[in-house]
This record gives sequence, structure tokens and C-alpha cells, in this order.
Amino acid sequence: MTFPFSSTRRRLLFLGASLASTFGTAIAAFGQQTTNLPKPTTKPRTDGFVPVVGPASILEKHGKVLTDKVLIVQNKDNNKLVAVSPLCLHRNCVVDWQEETQHFICPCHGSEFGTDGKVIKGPAKQGLKAFEVKVEENSFFIKPRIEN
Ligand code: FES
Repeated sequence: MTFPFSSTRRRLLFLGASLASTFGTAIAAFGQQTTNLPKPTTKPRTDGFVPVVGPASILEKHGKVLTDKVLIVQNKDNNKLVAVSPLCLHRNCVVDWQEETQHFICPCHGSEFGTDGKVIKGPAKQGLKAFEVKVEENSFFIKPRIEN
């Protein structure tokens, strides 16, 4: 019997599936702490905001809120909420928040991003997608930030 994929390709597919499973499990595990969510919807409200996660107390409890779509933190300088896409577009790693510097840091190659998602330090050339964020009904709502 012949397989449609080479041995190397099968191993890569298996590795990809394993990583996807592991990563999905990690997000799902975190998500289990964040139940009571309004169901994610693909349709924004009339004001453009979409509910992403709740309850709002998870930010205080964990210091950040991470889903597959958004990383929400609180800027300690002005206490405003900050929301960006967690995906570094250099090589698709998940960024983390560094409270001391108030920067998002990519653990893979060291890129740094400001609270507006713009690149502070490469190698990433493209910034993180930034969102407007607010809390309503005990949940976080986001909408893409329009750049002027
Ligand atoms: Fe983020 Fe390379 S993947 S700096």
C-alpha cells in the first residue's frame, strides 16, 4: 500500500497536528477559567464592538486576558485597557505582556511592541493589530481600531 505523503511530510503533518492540538488545549484550558462568556459572534453590534470574553474579573485575577483573537491588559501608567492581536506576524508566535516596560514582547525572536501595537524593536516589521476595548455586561468587547 502506498501513502499519498512521503515519510517526512507525514511527520510534519503529525507534528503540526500535535502542536495544533497542544496549543488548542492550552487555549481551551485557559478558556475553561473564563466561562460565563457571551457566545462569540461573528456579527459585530451596531457600534462595531464584538463580545470576546468574560467575566471582566479575569483581568484582575490573571493580569491579562488571552484568547486566540485578543490579548487584553491594563496600562499601569493611565489605567486604560489595551487590546491587541496576540499573534506576532514575524513568524506567528504569541506575544506576552511585560508589565515592567509596558511592552508586548515576542518570546520567539525578541520583537517588542507598544501599547498601540506598533513595532518598537524588530525583527518584526509589522505591528500587532490594535483594538478598541471596553467592558460591558461584565465582559470584554473589542472592535478594530481605525488608524488615521
Ligand atoms: Fe515574533 Fe519572530 S515570531 S519576533
